[in-house]
Amino acid sequence: MAKIIAGIGTSHIPTVGAVIDNDQMHGEYWDPFIAGIKPAREWMEKTKPDVCLIVYNDHASAFSLKHISTFGIGVAQEYQPADEGYGPRQVPVCNGNSDLSWHIAESLVLDEFDMTISNEMPVDHGLTVPLTIMYDQPKEWPCQVIPLYVNVVQYPQPTGNRCYNLGKAIRKAVESYPEDITVAIFGTGGLSHQLQGERAGLINEEYDKQWLEKLVNDPLSVKDISHTEYLRETGSEGIEAIMWLVMRGAMDDEVNEVHRFTHAPVSNTNYGLTIIENKK
Ligand code: DHB
Ligand code: FE
Repeated sequence: MAKIIAGIGTSHIPTVGAVIDNDQMHGEYWDPFIAGIKPAREWMEKTKPDVCLIVYNDHASAFSLKHISTFGIGVAQEYQPADEGYGPRQVPVCNGNSDLSWHIAESLVLDEFDMTISNEMPVDHGLTVPLTIMYDQPKEWPCQVIPLYVNVVQYPQPTGNRCYNLGKAIRKAVESYPEDITVAIFGTGGLSHQLQGERAGLINEEYDKQWLEKLVNDPLSVKDISHTEYLRETGSEGIEAIMWLVMRGAMDDEVNEVHRFTHAPVSNTNYGLTIIENKK
């Protein structure tokens, strides 16, 4: 049977991708960041999940605002890096796993999560930057990738509770897949940041710190946080953090945290990273 072996939460800041792609990740600004993600890369190297199921949001790269899906899943055999206005990132193509994707899609829909199903889609920084953070610059990604996208860019976004329950349904779907493969589930985006408007540049480290601690050790206490609270406390883009609740819902209530790292600012964002494993 397939198994979810870990949950990974990470911000997906595009600058991190651009700086690594251009071999510029060194010096005073980046040294603490490199040191903070190093243990995560070592853990990844040792753990080697077969599949990374990446919960992310498209930033109007694959999809325009003509049609907005609350939740969707890619079922393709490959996903090209998206052109976000300056040419596609020079990173490997993501190899998919159509069979597992369709299995998850079917299980989720029968569980009454009405997913949009995408046969073809390019993937933007929301998905590729987390891969770079965990794997650096390999010639090929050492895992298959299943993209699962959440609308966080246009109101009304799904509730945190809905995201958490989607995570539970994803776990059920993965655990009913007959092949013996290991899956790491990523929640991406956040933590606090606001990219435009009067409060552009907002970062709320204190709030993020408490939120992350509760997400890891007392998830039921954060799943019902309102959109208004996210907007007020973490800025207009901080709401991306609801995607970490999908990841958290796919794990046991009690988990071991392998690594946690936060650092601000990274670009405009309070960078956050956690890796959690089930206790048994
Ligand atoms: C930044 C962060 C994001 O999550 C994003 O999608 C775009 C930009 C930033 O910090 O610059
Ligand atoms: Fe983002």
